[in-house]
Amino acid sequence: MYIQGAYVYEGITVELYDLWFGSEPHEDQAFYEHFIRHGDGLALEIGSGTGRLLLPYLRSNLEVHGVEPSAQMMGVCQEKAEQFGLQPTIYQQYMQSLKIPHSYKTIFIPLCTFQLLVSRQEVLEALRRFYVHLEQDGRLMISLFMPTLQMLTAEQGVWSVRRATTRVEDNAHVVLSEAIQRNHFEQIETKWLKYEVYKNSQLAASYVKTMQLRWYSWHEFKMIIEKVGFRNVFMYGNYTHHEACEKNEVIVFSMQK
Ligand SMILES: C[S@@+](CC[C@H](N)C(=O)[O-])C[C@H]1O[C@@H](n2cnc3c(N)ncnc32)[C@H](O)[C@@H]1O
Repeated sequence: MYIQGAYVYEGITVELYDLWFGSEPHEDQAFYEHFIRHGDGLALEIGSGTGRLLLPYLRSNLEVHGVEPSAQMMGVCQEKAEQFGLQPTIYQQYMQSLKIPHSYKTIFIPLCTFQLLVSRQEVLEALRRFYVHLEQDGRLMISLFMPTLQMLTAEQGVWSVRRATTRVEDNAHVVLSEAIQRNHFEQIETKWLKYEVYKNSQLAASYVKTMQLRWYSWHEFKMIIEKVGFRNVFMYGNYTHHEACEKNEVIVFSMQK
């Protein structure tokens, strides 16, 4: 399958993922948990990754399945699950070709994973597949980074450090820098991610990866999801239960079948 601009979660990205995203409780954990409980039935996390949310939900006896294309991310999730004595159900699939023999009360897509889809055709196809996999009145929740004026006018093609941390296994210092280029016409952001691993103050390895993300205005996204047939669209700001406003960096779109 050809996936336009697809970023592959493998190698150093997987090794560092849990380190970057910290420990529980995560800032979005209680927010999705509320809706999964309220849905009162089977839930599905799209792009379940290393189980950052999936595993705590299973530990809390919620019925949640995962969808994840990266074998390495799934591997980390599986290892952690074994430590907790859990047996997660994870389908190795892409959201834009989702096909699972279940229907769900809640489908949720944390950490703006939906924006990894850059082709408009794939965006529509993924939304249609979520629709098909929801029970009647079931809820879909999609988190999106909103383009701020600062983001849209920031200098392009300039490297800046985003994160720096020490890797526990070998005490290596790892620095992640990024440079960004934006195509305002297509609403696609291309990020070059540079990982530098320092051991004893010497550069031991470096990796450069390219990631593309599609951005939306909220009115545009609302029209897209309504075109697919969703109704009762509501926008939550920054993982709160308040209606989103222009100050919010993340908006979670909630909609029903
Ligand atoms: C930012 S991570 C989020 C992981 C997890 N949901 C979390 O909140 O920690 C994005 C995840 O989505 C997966 N992913 C990437 N492209 C995908 C696609 N087309 N369909 C489904 N999942 C995808 C990646 O492999 C990765 O595990």
